[in-house]
Amino acid sequence: MFLNKHKVETKNKINMNNIPKHIAIIMDGNGRWAKKRGLPRIYGHKAGIKTVKKVVKVCSDLSVKYLTLYAFSTENWKRPTDEVNGLMNLLIEYLSNEVDELNKKNVKVIFIGDLSKIPDKCNYEIFKAEEKTRNNTGLILNIAFNYSGRNDIINAVKKICDKVVSGQLKTSDINEDIINKNLYTYGQPDPDLILRSGGELRLSNFLIWQSAYSELWFSDVLWPDFNEDDLIEAIVEYQKRNRRFGGL
Ligand code: IPE
Ligand code: IPE
Ligand code: MG
Repeated sequence: MFLNKHKVETKNKINMNNIPKHIAIIMDGNGRWAKKRGLPRIYGHKAGIKTVKKVVKVCSDLSVKYLTLYAFSTENWKRPTDEVNGLMNLLIEYLSNEVDELNKKNVKVIFIGDLSKIPDKCNYEIFKAEEKTRNNTGLILNIAFNYSGRNDIINAVKKICDKVVSGQLKTSDINEDIINKNLYTYGQPDPDLILRSGGELRLSNFLIWQSAYSELWFSDVLWPDFNEDDLIEAIVEYQKRNRRFGGL
C-alpha cells in the first residue's frame, strides 16, 4: 500500500470517507521544467510520464473511481511539428509499456477526444489499451487526447440534433441529462476536483461543461516535479471545501 511510503502526518490528514470520486488533472509545466534544465521540451514530457505513473498509482490505491488526465488539447496542434510528433510517440510508448501494469492494477483505460485526427499508430495502441482493459472494474482512467471542451459540447449538440431531425427526440425534451449522455464522459460523474500543475490559473478548454461545480486547485509545481504528496495535499484541501451547489 503506497501510504506506508509516505509521511505519517500526510496519511493521517486524509479522510478516507471523503475521497473525491472523480479527479481531473491539467498536467502542465513540462516544457518549462525542461527549459530550466537546458533540455529540449520533449524531455519534460518524458519526465512527466513518471508523474503520470505515480498519480495513477495513488488514485488507484485510494480507490478514486475516475481519473481524467489532460494529455493533448486540440489547441496543442499549434506547437512545432517535432514537439507534436514527440507527444504522439510518447503516447505510443506509454501505452505499449504500461498497459500490462494498468491491467494488473484493474485500471480501465478510456480515451476522450477526437481520435479521428491522430496518427493510425496512436489509434492502434489506444484500441489495444481500451480493449485489453475493457472489463476492468477498478480505477477508470480517462485520457483526454486531442480533447477540447467546446468540441465535446459541439459533438453532443450534433448528435442531439440528429435525434431531433429523425424524430427520436423532441427539442422541448433536451435537458442536462441528455447533454451529459452525449458527451465523451457519458455515464461518468462530473469531476469533484480539478487540479492544475505548472502555475497557470485557467482551464484551457478542459471539461468546460463537466466542471460547472468542480472544486479547483492550482499548484505552482511543474508537472514532472509533482509527486504523491502534492496530490495528497490537493485531496486534503478538497476535503476542507464546503460544496454548496448553490444551496446553503
Ligand atoms: C503540458 O506541458 C503538456 C502538454 C500540453 C502536452 P506544457 O508542454 O504545456 O509545458 P509548459 O506549459 O510549456 O511548461
Ligand atoms: C493545457 O496546457 C493542455 C494540456 C495540459 C494537455 P497548455 O499548456 O496547452 O495550456 P495553455 O496554452 O497554457 O492555456
Ligand atoms: Mg503549458
